[in-house]
Amino acid sequence: MNKLSVNYLGLNLQNPIIVGSSGLTNDIHEIAELEARGAAAIVVKSLFEEEIISSTTDDLNKMRSSGFIYPETLEYFNLDDIDDPVSNYLKFLKDAKKEVKIPVIASINCITSEGWTDFTKRIEDTGADAIELNVFPLSSDPRRSAEENENTYFEIAQKVTDVTKLPVSMKISYFHAGLANFIERLSRTKLKGLVLFNRFYNVDFNLDTFGYSNSHVFSTPAELSNSLRWIAIMSGRVNCDLAASTGVHDGYGAIKQLLAGAAAVQVVSTIYKNGKEQISFILQQLEQWMNRNGYNSIAEFKGNMSYDKTYNPAALERVQFMKYFNEK
Ligand SMILES: Cc1cc2nc3c(=O)[nH]c(=O)nc-3n(C[C@H](O)[C@H](O)[C@H](O)COP(=O)(O)O)c2cc1C
Repeated sequence: MNKLSVNYLGLNLQNPIIVGSSGLTNDIHEIAELEARGAAAIVVKSLFEEEIISSTTDDLNKMRSSGFIYPETLEYFNLDDIDDPVSNYLKFLKDAKKEVKIPVIASINCITSEGWTDFTKRIEDTGADAIELNVFPLSSDPRRSAEENENTYFEIAQKVTDVTKLPVSMKISYFHAGLANFIERLSRTKLKGLVLFNRFYNVDFNLDTFGYSNSHVFSTPAELSNSLRWIAIMSGRVNCDLAASTGVHDGYGAIKQLLAGAAAVQVVSTIYKNGKEQISFILQQLEQWMNRNGYNSIAEFKGNMSYDKTYNPAALERVQFMKYFNEK
């Protein structure tokens, strides 16, 4: 045990900083370097539900043309060389477990609970330490109700946790009416953790070519506030761990999330922008701040600014600017 250690999903982590699922975690040597820089765990790049159901090149090409999956994922899977992304993924998890000592969390991107959930059992055999389900069916179908959409999350949670003994977390978005209720109900399933929130691949228009492109692939520190608010509002009310994701770019962002009640903090964009040494920098800022404030463990301040513990819960619920610019 050291003063930065935390427990997340039942895993003992040497510190709260996890490198989130992304192109940063799809290469064995990169993972080893992330560990050397102080990452406490990594979430491997997502395998997609569609790849589990059918992993032929034709199907992948069809999905690419329909814009179904992150283009970056297709770069990861070289379609000429690999005709079985599933075996490849399982092998990658095994190799990652051999290469590093820190926990390796597998990730599956899914939008339905049909036809793939039994696969999660196979992840156990790789030695992976946990599974993160990255769930987000975009609610773009006007015939589909909010309830139908939400039920998918519960079906996925149930089917996967019924099949595997590994701890399972779910990474969700904030696009839900009744968000607090949704998060609270999800936390009462057999999920061990929720990751708030995913940040998506967004589309932009090219005004010269009339084509589509991606927009703002990386987050900025200003994007911290949404997950900060919701971790703070929910951390005292849920029955599972919460991990923060989106907008943590330095040690102070991580400290804020811990004060809000996060059990762990995921980072991606800041590593892409500043390099792997940013992890050591984040840890240094965290430790120095703890020393300045006389904290000997993260448990001593975790959740101290959450809705349940704060003297001013209204500050977390305030959403309108009443007099901001004309206040005397
Ligand atoms: C290039 C890139 C690829 C990503 N791929 C995945 C993915 O495969 N699965 C996933 O759950 N999240 C993926 N994400 C989302 C990140 O894990 C993370 O939730 C998001 O970037 C917000 O965190 P950040 O502000 O620290 O970047 C990706 C993000 C980026 C920038």
